[in-house]
Amino acid sequence: MQTAEFDFAALTPRERYKILIGTVVPRPIAWVTTINASGTANAAPFSFFNCLSADPAIVALGVEFRPDGAPKDTGRNIRESGAFTVNIVSDALLEAMNVTAVPFGAGVDELAHAGLEIADGTAVASPRIVMAPAALECRLHSFLEIGNSREIVLGEVVHAHIRADAVDERLHIDPTVIDAVGRMGGHGYASTRDYFDLPTMTEAHFSAGDIPLRRRKS
Ligand SMILES: Cc1cc2nc3c(=O)[nH]c(=O)nc-3n(C[C@H](O)[C@H](O)[C@H](O)COP(=O)(O)O)c2cc1C
Repeated sequence: MQTAEFDFAALTPRERYKILIGTVVPRPIAWVTTINASGTANAAPFSFFNCLSADPAIVALGVEFRPDGAPKDTGRNIRESGAFTVNIVSDALLEAMNVTAVPFGAGVDELAHAGLEIADGTAVASPRIVMAPAALECRLHSFLEIGNSREIVLGEVVHAHIRADAVDERLHIDPTVIDAVGRMGGHGYASTRDYFDLPTMTEAHFSAGDIPLRRRKS
């Protein structure tokens, strides 16, 4: 296979961004709800997001600064309140999520514009989106200062809300009920509806030629 080569040292930040968002796909989307110092709720999507550890339960967000160097409302609110909630975006909520990505001025109630109902957090000050199929309440763990253009927020998950019909007594979560959407490059999205199982093999299974086939679930 022929490859195109890119020396990251020779690329502009925008070019690096384009290569990263086009290759690291699909990315999960953290739909982050926070409150500011006067208690106004805010929501915004972040696809520079993942869970990094289960013990402790750590999630990470990459929050860019605005072009003038000012922090986004989400980053500022997390600093002020010490908390944030990651709501999972289901297919049904995609258009509402997109409204909350509009760069409204600080103090604008994006949640009301998007027609979203929120509920108080259980363990943290930040609210959650009631219709989200899952919401992870996080306490601020730390900020990683990585340069002038963005910062990384680490949060410890302290409480989870999950749609009752999506989780069973063995804590297996049904992805077809969560129906999450992922982010691709550009303005692209991917659904998780094309979902299948492929068990990991033991070495013995592999050596015996016992190769599992993918089993479609949806
Ligand atoms: C699907 C999606 C993913 C996004 N991911 C990020 C991200 O990872 N980091 C970031 O800084 N902005 C990201 N954005 C842009 C922010 O959501 C946008 O700047 C938003 O207005 C920030 O809102 P805030 O000022 O209320 O925090 C994303 C937007 C969309 C639609």
